Amino acid sequence: MERLQDVNAMATTTTIMSEPETTADWKNALPVLAGHGVTLRELRPADAASLCELLTAGEVARFISPPPTTVEGFERFIQWTHDERAAGRYICFAVVPHGLDTAIGLFQVRQLEPAFGTAEWGFVLGSSFWGTGVFMDAARLTIEFAFETVGVHRLEARAAVLNGRGNGALAKAGAVKEGVLRKSFLRNGEYLDQALWSIVRDDWRQTRAVWGSIIH
Ligand SMILES: CC(C)(COP(=O)(O)OP(=O)(O)OC[C@H]1O[C@@H](n2cnc3c(N)ncnc32)[C@H](O)[C@@H]1OP(=O)(O)O)[C@@H](O)C(=O)NCCC(=O)NCCS
Repeated sequence: MERLQDVNAMATTTTIMSEPETTADWKNALPVLAGHGVTLRELRPADAASLCELLTAGEVARFISPPPTTVEGFERFIQWTHDERAAGRYICFAVVPHGLDTAIGLFQVRQLEPAFGTAEWGFVLGSSFWGTGVFMDAARLTIEFAFETVGVHRLEARAAVLNGRGNGALAKAGAVKEGVLRKSFLRNGEYLDQALWSIVRDDWRQTRAVWGSIIH
């Protein structure tokens, strides 16, 4: 599959100088975002069981902050995502492939400064959905929502250097690797180096025209 960076040259070079038309409606309830093969929507209590089954697997949780370990823990997490969204600090989308009813993963965006000028995104999918195109589909929807609806200017991500799929996914999504944050992530009693990645809004706007052709 072609990488986004490889096709950047084909993208329009029009520079859009205007600020995005942002809306605060998402603080009341997240919209439903439809992709080619997935829907992003607000988390529901009924998602707790599937998330608990899929996201607590060793290979999934290895490089992320420890997820809850029980269905009840995921139910409390889901309520917390609603509270944080209502407070305007954080957004968490459930990833639901077409044909399914419950979440198989999460895409999160949290503000790093008030009003989301700079924000950080993160993502996790059940391992049976890795390499299926779900990531790119959900990534496109999340990035577009962050830049065009929330008003994010710079979207950062951190991925443990040892996390090959996490870093590969970010590169594929058009993020630029800016450096390494040494010993910045404590996981299982060990401090891990993390790569810092970013996407800025103007770059995204110049390249998004080609996303349709690279999502499989
Ligand atoms: C991160 C995650 C959401 C990505 O979804 P995914 O379906 O695995 O992603 P994709 O397969 O579309 O893309 C990953 C890319 O990394 C590549 N990759 C895999 N191992 C790699 C490695 N060791 N080094 C570099 N690239 C690697 C893959 O080949 C793929 O690129 P390709 O499609 O061009 O072949 C998923 O792997 C996941 O949930 N991981 C566990 C949670 C996690 O680590 N989250 C990220 C925290 S930053």
